[in-house]
Amino acid sequence: MSAQNKATLSFTDGTPSVEFPIYPGSVGPDVVDIRKLYGQTGKFTFDPGFLSTAACESKITYIDGDKGELLYRGYPIEQIAEKCDYLDTCYLLLNGDLPDAQQSKDFSYLVMRHTMVHEQMTRFYQGFRRDAHPMAVLVGCVGALSAFYHDSLDINNPEHRMISSIRLVAKMPTMVAMAYKYSIGQPFMYPKNDLSYTANFMRMMFGNPCEEYVPNPVLVKALDRILLLHADHEQNASTSTVRLAGSSGANPFACIAAGIATLWGPAHGGANEACLVMLNDIQKQGGVAKIGEFISQVKDKNSGAKLMGFGHRVYKNYDPRAKLMRETCYEVLGELGLENDPLFALAMKLEQIALEDDYFVQRKLYPNVDFYSGIVQRALGIPTEMFTCIFALARTVGWIAQWGEMISEPDQKIGRPRQLYTGAARRNFK
Ligand code: SDX
Repeated sequence: MSAQNKATLSFTDGTPSVEFPIYPGSVGPDVVDIRKLYGQTGKFTFDPGFLSTAACESKITYIDGDKGELLYRGYPIEQIAEKCDYLDTCYLLLNGDLPDAQQSKDFSYLVMRHTMVHEQMTRFYQGFRRDAHPMAVLVGCVGALSAFYHDSLDINNPEHRMISSIRLVAKMPTMVAMAYKYSIGQPFMYPKNDLSYTANFMRMMFGNPCEEYVPNPVLVKALDRILLLHADHEQNASTSTVRLAGSSGANPFACIAAGIATLWGPAHGGANEACLVMLNDIQKQGGVAKIGEFISQVKDKNSGAKLMGFGHRVYKNYDPRAKLMRETCYEVLGELGLENDPLFALAMKLEQIALEDDYFVQRKLYPNVDFYSGIVQRALGIPTEMFTCIFALARTVGWIAQWGEMISEPDQKIGRPRQLYTGAARRNFK
């Protein structure tokens, strides 16, 4: 990074002013490099929630929140959604460029030959109650995966990093499907490597040993698009967790388990499940006729109600993924003859009313990726409590690409934020 400009910080408390280099991005905001601030002034910056803090340099994904633009390695998400499948998107995020036909074939062959998990893994699932939330199962089992690869991984060896990335991308569909099968008391389905990545996942989810399962290509394509829309998204909460966990040298399986735990929250990846619960509640209370009342509740801070699937830390415009997700909704509902799905109609009416309401307009609150994803996943037959597991499956490639980028940084350090301490000063026992 080369600095053309500088920032000067002056103080009114007598601390001498200090200069900091400013580095430009290839696109997006410049950064002020304040790494020397504490050493030169004895002061910290204060930015809980990281509203104005770049925690790293990255070349993987870029979001322009004002334009509502999302780029994977420079390619707009709209073009990726139209021209790529999920595995080609994984290749792009992991390697920095789109694969040619041979590379795409080789990558798909490699991933599809790592889809099985150690047979011993089934014992971990059996330790859970059948009604355990599948995200609890996934956090536990992906963390347990590290026990099987803990010693065969030198994170400083690029080859080892790539094989761990392949293993995680390959095994997540198997482990997510196992969580679902376990919750409904059906036997686990083994992967079928001659199917595509997403068709194989659908078969493991919805197939059973008693009959052939033939995936519907329209539905496979729709789910494949849902996966690629969720693949990566800059330094969101779960990705930042994976980077921080990885900065200590923890193995990538443990880091991904930490990412899954963070994604679970309703403010983050858990919003798709929460959004469908919200839509169902409104529907039960009267549907479209009750939207006005719900919006009033949302605007009343004391109600604690939020319009789930709306708002975003970065997007202050329409989330481009939400637009593509709405299109996918049309396709899937059309294919299934559910064009008049009441929840889809309710969601579109809710979106229209919210986008005309000053409360949302002033705060630049728009639908995000989670607003429509629940409706389309439900139409695909995925139960609500599995939605965030699907998000975790899709985001694993983003997490592991960001982890790999962080580990290969030459001056990579353990992440260790400081604090503003306002507790008791030193005192002695009386
Ligand atoms: C994801 O970071 C990522 O990239 C995440 C993600 C990814 O791909 O990794 O995009 C995936 O997590 C999408 C977001 C899913 N979450 C939800 O849909 C939950 C509902 N949304 C909110 O909780 C909220 O919008 C956040 C958490 C997403 C963002 O919160 P911020 O940036 O901290 O903003 P804020 O909470 O300070 O909100 C600013 C104002 C507040 O009102 P005022 O204090 O100004 O009066 O907007 C209000 C908030 O109360 N507000 C909402 C709202 N979101 C924000 N009011 C009602 N409903 C909402 N959804």
